[in-house]
Amino acid sequence: MTVYLVGAGPGDADLLTVRAAQLLAEAEVVVHDRLISREVLALVNKRAARYDVGKAPGLAHSQEGINELLVALARDFEFVVRLKGGDPFVFGRGGEEVEALEAHGIDVRVVPGVTSAFAGPLLAGIPVTHRGVSHGVTVVTGSSVKGSRVDFACLANADVTLVVLMGVERRAEIAAELIEGGLAPSTPVGVVEWASTDQQRCLRCRLDELGASHVRAPAVLVIGEVAALDLGSVKTFAATWAFA
Ligand SMILES: C[S@@+](CC[C@H](N)C(=O)[O-])C[C@H]1O[C@@H](n2cnc3c(N)ncnc32)[C@H](O)[C@@H]1O
Repeated sequence: MTVYLVGAGPGDADLLTVRAAQLLAEAEVVVHDRLISREVLALVNKRAARYDVGKAPGLAHSQEGINELLVALARDFEFVVRLKGGDPFVFGRGGEEVEALEAHGIDVRVVPGVTSAFAGPLLAGIPVTHRGVSHGVTVVTGSSVKGSRVDFACLANADVTLVVLMGVERRAEIAAELIEGGLAPSTPVGVVEWASTDQQRCLRCRLDELGASHVRAPAVLVIGEVAALDLGSVKTFAATWAFA
């Protein structure tokens, strides 16, 4: 009874780690989230039982329920894969699942994944840091947890890139707080929707235009001077291969 917490990357199956692909091919059971692409799910062992515990906004499957399911499956099977979008520990609640499983004496192994926080911008030609443009990157959530949320005014720093996950709904407030904190209204913003999938789209705007922009979740917001860059020649390995 081992549970593997595996990162599925942002969507494109070519961005899975080799280890993740091997585990999916061998798993007896796979418990997966909502944002896992069909392409990645196609790599799951055909004989494996599958549980979709996708937490679509407003729908069932509480985290506690998922933890209980994982504990129960670990007791019945030798080899369980818990597949989570991106990296399991970047706003993925992977830590809570590890704690719940370990509390029941279950062996847990982790497999890092390619996070949408960094891969999303890059796939749209935006590097999250760039020498002489940005000294670093801060990754935050735009949603609130138990009533507490990030103080965006305190994060206003023209020298550091800000990457916001789960920020689509509150984008107008986020932009207003950053401007109030001192960031220029003209600060470049990139919004990368459905990164790495065939629905990928990147919207570029100014910070003071973000609130009125038409954006579809899931999306990564990249705020800062790097969002004015467009490394148009960046290709994923898969794309390079396809055109070779
Ligand atoms: C609950 S968080 C999970 C993040 C995930 N663990 C990761 O490392 O990418 C979900 C958020 O990640 C971002 N996200 C995940 N996949 C994405 C994708 N393919 N394109 C754009 N944003 C994505 C969105 O901001 C979405 O609201």
